[in-house]
Order: sequence, then C-alpha cells, then structure tokens
Amino acid sequence: MTTNAQPRTQWLGRWGFILAATGSAVGLGNIWKFPYITGEFGGGAFVLVYLACILAVGVPVMMTEIALGRRGRGSPVDALRRVIAESGRGSAWSLLGWMAMLCGFLILSFYVVVAGWSFAYLWKMLSGGLAGSSVDEMAAIFGANNASPLNLGFWSTLVTVATMVIVGKGVQAGIEKSVSWMMPGMVLMLLLLIGYGVFSGGFPAAVDFLFSFDAGRLSSEGMLAALGHAFFTLSLASGAILTYGSYLPATTSIARTTLSVALADTVVALMAGLAIFPVIFANGMSPSSGPGLIFMSLPLAFQAIPMGTLFGILFFVMLSMAALTSSISMVEATVSWLCDNKGLSRRSASWGTGLVLWLVSTLAMLSFNVGADWTLYGKHFFDWLDYLTSRWMMPLGGLGMVMLAGFVLKSESFREELGLSPGWHALWLFMVRYVSPLGILMIFVDALGITRV
Ligand code: PFF
Ligand code: NA
Repeated sequence: MTTNAQPRTQWLGRWGFILAATGSAVGLGNIWKFPYITGEFGGGAFVLVYLACILAVGVPVMMTEIALGRRGRGSPVDALRRVIAESGRGSAWSLLGWMAMLCGFLILSFYVVVAGWSFAYLWKMLSGGLAGSSVDEMAAIFGANNASPLNLGFWSTLVTVATMVIVGKGVQAGIEKSVSWMMPGMVLMLLLLIGYGVFSGGFPAAVDFLFSFDAGRLSSEGMLAALGHAFFTLSLASGAILTYGSYLPATTSIARTTLSVALADTVVALMAGLAIFPVIFANGMSPSSGPGLIFMSLPLAFQAIPMGTLFGILFFVMLSMAALTSSISMVEATVSWLCDNKGLSRRSASWGTGLVLWLVSTLAMLSFNVGADWTLYGKHFFDWLDYLTSRWMMPLGGLGMVMLAGFVLKSESFREELGLSPGWHALWLFMVRYVSPLGILMIFVDALGITRV
C-alpha cells in the first residue's frame, strides 16, 4: 500500500475532467471506426442499438469507474485495492485493476499504428502524395504506406513520442493543458467539415442513411458489434476513465459529468458520420467499404470536390488530434502507478512506459508488412491485440467492475461518491446489478461462437 502523504493531484480547472475524459472518449473509435461499422451494419438500425448500449451499459459502467477512481484516489491497481480493503473484501478482486491497466496499454500498442496512418495521411495531403483516380489506386497508396516497416514504424513512433511527451509533463501541465486547446480546436474543425458536407450535395442522403430506422437490417451480429463498440468508444475498463476520475475534485457530480462525456462522445460520432457520408455519397461511393473508408474512399472523394485538399487537411489534423487526446489517456494509469509505487518521476515513468510500448507497437506495426504471416489461429499480432482487448478484456473488466459495485463493495461508498437521490441511486444499482451484466454476457456468448452458425 502506498503512503498517501501528499494529497493526490486534482484537475486545475472546472472543465479539466470533462475535457480530458471527453478527449479520451472521442478518438479513432468515433471518426474511423463508428462510421465504417455503421456502414457495414446498415445505418440507422445499428445507430439505434448503439445508442441503447451507451445508455444501458456505457453510462452505468462509466459512473462506477469514476466513483471507484475518486474513492480510491489512485491508479486502477491502487484505487481498487483501497476500495476493496475499505469494504473488507478479498484481494482477488484487485486483479481487475491489473487487467484494466494492462488493457489500456495493449490498446495503445495497436492504436498508435492507426493514429500513425492518420499522421501519415495528413503528410500525404500536405505534400500531394494522395493523387489517384480510383478506389484501386487509393488502395495501392494505402498498401504502399503499410508495406514499408520503416515508413509505418516512423509514424507510429512519432505518435508514441508525442503521447509520452504530453503525459511526461504531468496531469495539469501535460494532459489538462493539451486537451484544453485540442478539444475545442477539434470540435471547430468538425463543424467546418459538416458545414462543407451540407453543401457537398450528399447531405440528405447521409442524414437518411444515419437516421432512418429499418428494423429489417438489424442483425444479431450488428447488435453485438454495437455493444462492444460502446465499451471502446467510451474508453471503459481500460484504466483511462478510472485514473482520470482519481483526479476529480470531491464536489463534482459524477452522474452529470458522465452524462456530458457520453453525450459528447455520441454527438461527435454522429457528427463524424455527417461529415464523412455526404462526401462519400456525393461521389456515388459505397458506405460499406470497411476500415479503409476514411483512408481510401474519403481522400478520393475529397479530391473530386472544390477545396477538397484544404478540407482533407483539416480532416486529418482533426483525426490526429482526436487520436492523441485518446492515446494519452491509455498510459496515464500505468504512468501514475509507476510514480506512486516505484518512486519514479513523471518523466522517467513515461519514457520507461513509452519504451516498452514502442517494442509492443513495433510488433503490431510489423503485422502489416514483414510479419503479415506471423499468425496464430489465423490472426496476426495486430488483430490479436484488438481481439483480446475489445472482445475479452474490456467486457470482462466491465463485468467485474459492475459486479464489484453492485454486489461486493459497501453500498455506502457508492451512495457517498455518487450522491444521487434515492430514486436515481436505485436506478443506477438496478443497472449495474442486472442490465449491464446481461448486456455484457451477450458479448461473451458471441465471442464463444454460440450464436454463430
Ligand atoms: N475511446 C477511444 C476512441 O473511441 O477512440 C479509444 C480508447 C481510449 C479506448 C482510451 C480505451 C481507452 F482507455
Ligand atoms: Na470514442
């Protein structure tokens, strides 16, 4: 157990936590993944299920995580250990803290590769490296970018270094300061892009695609993807939100804060859809082109329209910022744990973490070139990282945390931290005891292949 001689750092400004947690939530998940999985799973019906998952699973889990972080005032490992000890329960539950910390780290080791794509594409937009006249030519550019380990490694290393520089400066001077200008900047750019989308001619088609509910297109596969994405998009069970919660002042309302973050994340995902699909539809392209949607179809679409390069640059600047404000949150748990337990300075803790991260992410990056056939059960290393974290570690961690909060820990702890009226508290308890666990169990059923034919 650490000695808590010094009080824990807290967010400096009134908006510190909201900006940082929204920065963590809003990322590649919203702008890269949400539009393409919405495209794959058929639009409006998927969006509706996704919204239900955010409300039924995402919000209760996020409230629980912030409460655990603030109550325990530490990294996931330390915070959980304290809260569990306070309730006099067995330490096996502390494994949840270790798993969350590891999960954030593992997500980052493949996230920096995708974020690296974004930086590489920003550079290509600026230097005219994206000239191509068909989807095939764009696919060739994407392929060439991945084929060279030196090139791909350069961009993911750049993201790793940028992340570690920010985190190394500390919670207030690094994380809080950087999100306080990157987040407003990002939203401004997104608004400009939507404005552009409105005039591109494809806007009505995009609105129709995102919001018209066609129950016939609802698949069980789509529902499970929506549930898994709810965890990823809100940064849950990865130590990020819990650790940011450990810096939350005692008087801030956890429920209100959670609702703002979840709402902002959802609005940005929908806004990203409204910025991307009009351009896609205006060019008569398909919305269901998969992970390459924003790296192949979109740059091609930008080329075909007036001032497309300018808006293309804006798009990749925005995407890169969104990725960075997320990546810093994924290592904060580890860095905070190292500082509190190993007596390291912020700076050494982040460079140490960054070095290990760099080794793992290099292996992930090699999956796209020299390591393409280093596979195990048909998946290469990059896919394994994604699969293990989003299919197993996040749902399992989320399940553990709601069970811990709902059935194991003293209920006074949560009554005090959440400070809700009796009616709202009862609703939260019902959600964490029954609704969220059942939703999460559905993911496991799918991962085990029980629903597959
Ligand atoms: N929420 C981020 C996104 O949507 O891109 C991803 C993420 C961030 C996952 C932080 C996990 C995490 F700890
Ligand atoms: Na997100």
